[in-house]
Amino acid sequence: MRIYKVKDYNELSRKAANIISAQVISKPDCVLGLATGSSPIGTYKQLIEWYKKGDLDFKETKSVNLDEYRGLGIESDQSYVYFMNENLFKHINIDPKNINIPNGKKEDAIEECKRYDDLIDSLGGIDIQLLGIGRNGHIGFNEPDTSFIKETHCVKLTESTIEANKRFFASVDDVPREAYTMGIGAIMKAKTVLLIASGKDKAEAIKNSFFGPITPNVPASILQLHPNVIVVADEDALSLV
Ligand code: GLP
Repeated sequence: MRIYKVKDYNELSRKAANIISAQVISKPDCVLGLATGSSPIGTYKQLIEWYKKGDLDFKETKSVNLDEYRGLGIESDQSYVYFMNENLFKHINIDPKNINIPNGKKEDAIEECKRYDDLIDSLGGIDIQLLGIGRNGHIGFNEPDTSFIKETHCVKLTESTIEANKRFFASVDDVPREAYTMGIGAIMKAKTVLLIASGKDKAEAIKNSFFGPITPNVPASILQLHPNVIVVADEDALSLV
């Protein structure tokens, strides 16, 4: 595991965008595993800037996103598909047919989760998976549990996650209670994992994930077993280690 300690969010975004750029340049038809939340917004902005300058080309690149709220689709500005369009996809030349996100509108959870795992397999797995981290150590929407769940699954969000994510919704009651998330299996099979964390809010999660025991109670702690993890975190996020 390599940990890059950076000064602040801006430096974090540049470093993460550099790492993703290196992947896209060295393998233009790579599979990018992408994430939502406030952490990757700066990274996406930087990638867009470099694309506009002509330094990056996403025409052959494929993407798979980590998760989606169950019940939400593109018509909702809180859905992750909407977030990804606004914050990245509509600004770059990725081919829409190469974009993949769990379908929150699909009511049959078993069918949707199987479709998503089959799809990731058919792409040959993920080359680089970008991850944020939840305050309780969740990755994607893999919440603390008694075991690690390998497959894409439908998860009941914890109160801590609902509380943390309510800032994006009109009220806490509007936050969906369930989500589809890629499982730990596909994340662990990614050739490279790039986890980004910024701010004091994440310090506890970083400490527990990378400097504590490996336990499903802290889902990101499994990354200690991944052969190629890069953590880019700012001084605040690393303040407890
Ligand atoms: C959500 C997402 C995660 C993300 C987390 C942290 O729960 N499902 O993928 O890592 O939020 O978000 P933020 O980066 O806004 O702190």
